[in-house]
Amino acid sequence: MRMVDLIAAKRDGNEHTAREINWIIQAMLSGEAPDYQLSAWLMAVLWRGMTERETIILTDAMIHSGQVLDLHDIVPFVVDKHSTGGVGDKTSLVVLPLVAAAGLPIVKMSGRGLGFTGGTLDKLEAIPGFQVSLSIEALKATVREHGIALAGQTAELAPADGKLYALRDVTATVPSLPLIASSIMSKKIASGADAIVLDVKVGRGAFMETLEDARALALLMMRIGQGLGKRVTAVLADMSQPLGCAVGNALEVQEAILTLRGGGPPDFVEHCLTVGAEMLLLGGAAQSPEAGRSALQSMIQDGRATAKLREWIRAQQGDVRVVDDMALLPQASVVSDYIAPVGGYISSIDAREIGVIAGILGAGREQKGDAIDPAVGIVLHNKVGQAVQAGKPLATIHARSETALHEAEARLREAIQIAATQTQPPPTVYEVLRG
Ligand code: URA
Repeated sequence: MRMVDLIAAKRDGNEHTAREINWIIQAMLSGEAPDYQLSAWLMAVLWRGMTERETIILTDAMIHSGQVLDLHDIVPFVVDKHSTGGVGDKTSLVVLPLVAAAGLPIVKMSGRGLGFTGGTLDKLEAIPGFQVSLSIEALKATVREHGIALAGQTAELAPADGKLYALRDVTATVPSLPLIASSIMSKKIASGADAIVLDVKVGRGAFMETLEDARALALLMMRIGQGLGKRVTAVLADMSQPLGCAVGNALEVQEAILTLRGGGPPDFVEHCLTVGAEMLLLGGAAQSPEAGRSALQSMIQDGRATAKLREWIRAQQGDVRVVDDMALLPQASVVSDYIAPVGGYISSIDAREIGVIAGILGAGREQKGDAIDPAVGIVLHNKVGQAVQAGKPLATIHARSETALHEAEARLREAIQIAATQTQPPPTVYEVLRG
């Protein structure tokens, strides 16, 4: 088989056979297919799509590109969560310790920033010393001892996703339903999940901009999971404006710590409680979403949530002192307020543009393997529907140079719109699809 023929077949809208898809994944892993041909194939898939049959075969090939974890010797039932990607989405940093504190063991495989969205691995690495590269043995030992462990793709677990994910990030081939579905579901299944809560984002700051597309993606992932005997729930959540207020790696870690201490932004708290409660429900640790929510709220109130966060950070070699002293997180050299040019009400905050601005400041990658700056980003002071006064700070920009600061200010002027009349804020969650 030749990669060039398979690229041409997909370019012309043909359906791949199982043999062809398995060959592509093997050729990628062996190095026979170079990045430029894989990139061309990814772009052909983005334009032409894949049938559900092709997507299931691709997911299966990606799952079996490495080992498939069986964690049942350690925990009876593994519940995981995964977001389809958004701006300011630090949900895992809060929900994982929260759910683990409620007694449900958590093992999660996460990704890095993708396109204009941030990634959980990059956020956790903003904590000095935090190790996300765990061997399978270390992952198992950590969850056995602490009930919580998180790692990135490795040569052992879903290596095909690791490779495709990094290529998609820098070739503008992320927003493809079959590529997102296979990427997420292969990681979840390879890391041993029995049940999965999918956090499917909808809006300008997500890869699915309409509720209809997001629902189609959610249902496809649910069918893939259910076909493999997994229990899957999907939460369709707003991403028209950033989630919470902080966008940028260390800044999001700070917001996550504040949230676990009981001081998070209301939309973010609401989102975390929804996702966390669905995880407790799937894992049999709550009888209803309402019971799950109140269990999670009590973890925040009585300090068990921050205690679990400390235990988790220590277990993965991070500097646990950041939980009480956030000044120990990376700090940007240039910090400046962006001032409201007029008074009125926030009518929109373009989440995608905020993600792009964070990338320009240095929080994301332009090329594969680029280093990111953990300290930079944006903190919003107001969300859609809130009143603002002319001359008061609308956001704080954390930059590494005056030039980057000025570019961010110029773009924020377009990204945050102010109107004379009040707009209803979007709902945090549109719907929950339970399998
Ligand atoms: N998250 C993933 O793991 N993969 C995607 O393709 C998108 C979001």
